[in-house]
Amino acid sequence: MNLAVNARDAMPHGGQLLISTALVDIDATYVERHSVEARGGRFVCLSLADTGCGMDSVTLHRLFEPFFTTKEFGKGTGLGLATVYGIVKQHGGWIEVSSQLGQGSTFKVFLPPDDRSDERRGERAFHEKALRGTETILVIEDESPVRWIVKDVLSKYGYHVLEAGSGVEALALWHQHHDEIALLLTDLVMPVGLSGQELAEQFTTQKPALKVIYISGYSLQVAGKGFSVLDGLNFLQKPFDDTKLALAVRQGLDS
Ligand SMILES: Nc1ncnc2c1ncn2[C@@H]1O[C@H](COP(=O)(O)OP(=O)(O)OP(=O)(O)O)[C@@H](O)[C@H]1O
Ligand SMILES: [Mg+2]
Repeated sequence: MNLAVNARDAMPHGGQLLISTALVDIDATYVERHSVEARGGRFVCLSLADTGCGMDSVTLHRLFEPFFTTKEFGKGTGLGLATVYGIVKQHGGWIEVSSQLGQGSTFKVFLPPDDRSDERRGERAFHEKALRGTETILVIEDESPVRWIVKDVLSKYGYHVLEAGSGVEALALWHQHHDEIALLLTDLVMPVGLSGQELAEQFTTQKPALKVIYISGYSLQVAGKGFSVLDGLNFLQKPFDDTKLALAVRQGLDS
């Protein structure tokens, strides 16, 4: 998503963005010629090639740095590619960029394929039973699509989910349902009003048994900046899959 938005921004007068995927076999020669982070083996390659403004060598060297941006003040935070880099790294992949000023840019994301066998899937289904629960969870997330998915997944696991799209909504729901709410699942960074952390602090003061899990698209290092303590255990970085979410919730409730 961020890669596509960057490509759009690089083509203010229009152009072409070609998105493609391929299964590639990387050998030693490839590793030598390309990124130092490349490794041999079979990988999925997601490629985004735009016909935009391209980049000079200074930008090319710095583009993954957090807060590095060439966009005007208020337009870009410079966190986009730093986040993409972090996510890809966490999945055991790497990114290759080629670009020349005025010649467009190509970003290639390499990820190890999901080769889990059917047997492992069966095993997972078994474990999923242990992840179920019937507790009430308050989900605070300002991005509606994310909130809907979270609600959907947790409902599927048996939980009762209350959803709030803002701090104000969360306060109202808390006021009505604080007795039942066992866990707070909240976005850490919200654009307006009270932050997830402020709400969590307020609610846990009223109800010390309340469990809290923070979610954020940014890594803990970036999102946690300026906060006193944030236990790595009650932090879930986006994107997460169903199992990871259910596991964090179950562990949070049982902690
Ligand atoms: N496809 C592209 N074409 C040209 N320049 C790019 C492209 N993608 C990234 N860049 C350059 O890399 C810089 C960093 O990108 P990054 O996504 O990290 O931050 P941003 O887009 O400036 O801000 P944010 O993504 O946080 O809104 C951009 O400001 C731009 O100079
Ligand atoms: Mg960006």
